[in-house]
Amino acid sequence: MADIRNDFIGIKSPNPFWLASAPPTDKAYNVERAFKAGWGGVVWKTLGEEGPPVVNVNGPRYGAIWGADRRLLGLNNIELITDRQLQLNLQEMKQVKKNWPDRALVASIMVPCVEESWKAILPAVEETGCDGIELNFGCPHGMSERGMGAAVGQVPEYIEMVARWCKQYTRMPVIVKLTPNITDIRYPARAAHKGRADAVSLINTISSITSVNLDTFSPEPSIDGKGSHGGYCGPAVKPIALNMVAEIARDPQTRGLPISGIGGVTTWRDAAEFLALGAGNVQVCTAAMTYGFKIVQEMISGLSNWMDEKGHRSLDDIIGRATPNVTDWQFLNLNYVAKAHIDQDLCIKCGRCHIACEDTSHQAITAQVDGVRHFEVMEDECVGCNLCVNVCPVENCITLAPLAAGTIDKRTGRPVSPVYANWTTHPNNPSARVAAE
Ligand SMILES: Cc1cc2nc3c(=O)[nH]c(=O)nc-3n(C[C@H](O)[C@H](O)[C@H](O)COP(=O)(O)O)c2cc1C
Ligand code: SF4
Ligand code: SF4
Repeated sequence: MADIRNDFIGIKSPNPFWLASAPPTDKAYNVERAFKAGWGGVVWKTLGEEGPPVVNVNGPRYGAIWGADRRLLGLNNIELITDRQLQLNLQEMKQVKKNWPDRALVASIMVPCVEESWKAILPAVEETGCDGIELNFGCPHGMSERGMGAAVGQVPEYIEMVARWCKQYTRMPVIVKLTPNITDIRYPARAAHKGRADAVSLINTISSITSVNLDTFSPEPSIDGKGSHGGYCGPAVKPIALNMVAEIARDPQTRGLPISGIGGVTTWRDAAEFLALGAGNVQVCTAAMTYGFKIVQEMISGLSNWMDEKGHRSLDDIIGRATPNVTDWQFLNLNYVAKAHIDQDLCIKCGRCHIACEDTSHQAITAQVDGVRHFEVMEDECVGCNLCVNVCPVENCITLAPLAAGTIDKRTGRPVSPVYANWTTHPNNPSARVAAE
């Protein structure tokens, strides 16, 4: 049986599935039930300064986009940090940690970007006995207008400065939670590393407007006829998050910096992908908000079963395994040739592949053969782009297969070369020509 126990920067949990800082973790009532359901850890809903708590809107705070089957694909929110008193949260955290010593309990914190504010809150948080802190430099709405959240996460110098303060004023491990609302995620990650943070977590939500009501002309969610941008999360953001995790994992300046992967994790597969790209564990929010706490049970059994099947004994066997396979475009093998193939037994003759290839790719799929509706790939035109595979409504009906070395590529009339060759040395590359001259 695979061992899925997790040790993330010294914080131990029975599995790598943590709930991210958000409504599922905003009070003891929720966190206790989450632990009962099996979650390995939680990052408590972001704490603010002592004093009157923030105030949330009293109307809709969520917008969404759905697939055709009404399955939630992306969720947008305009919620702020916790709107409960700091002391109440701290008391509950202390009790929960006492009740569940084997689970990870991390405090998310967002206070003004001044040293005194951080210095003041850290001892109070430490007193709860929690396992670490996560600095919320990611929230893109509401708090960022007040100079916190993403407003800090978008300035690497601030990230480094606050991380340093935290390392100075607490002995707890420090995780910096990054905002994806930035052009190059490596800069804030490097800043966190320079500030001696123990780890980064990402992504927080993406600035977004999910829809506009075409009767009232108000963005949704609409508060008395007006809307403001919110933070986007859920399955739709996973590709963005995976890329950002990989960018940090393979950056020579941050290589080895522990990463907690967040963004759209809904199944054990999503989690395994984050781990493979270099995350040391994962955090989940939208999936728990959509399907409830018990979704973690499927994540645990799915990950364990897959690991058993593949012979992976512990999480260390998986973490970072895909990172070396992430490269820059210029290093991709231009001598690799693939062609699409349609399984005629599975084809329902809908014609989508033909239209897609005919109108926007390489006119490589028939619509008729001998006057009969028939969809077949013409290998002498197919460039192997994969568009037809992605638009076909029948899974595995169209597959892409590489041509073996030596096989004649009917499109070019040339044999497939066994030699790896990339753009850096390609004769059409002006830079390669200059280098050779
Ligand atoms: C309603 C809501 C409130 C959130 N509040 C916080 C917060 O207080 N602090 C924080 O760091 N992240 C907050 N997040 C972001 C999540 O922790 C997480 O980074 C994001 O939702 C991406 O993960 P997901 O795709 O699994 O939802 C919130 C997300 C949602 C949906
Ligand atoms: S792989 Fe691309 S070029 Fe080939 S048949 Fe499909 S859509 Fe056309
Ligand atoms: S899209 Fe798929 S099912 Fe539809 S015609 Fe093409 S191969 Fe057949």
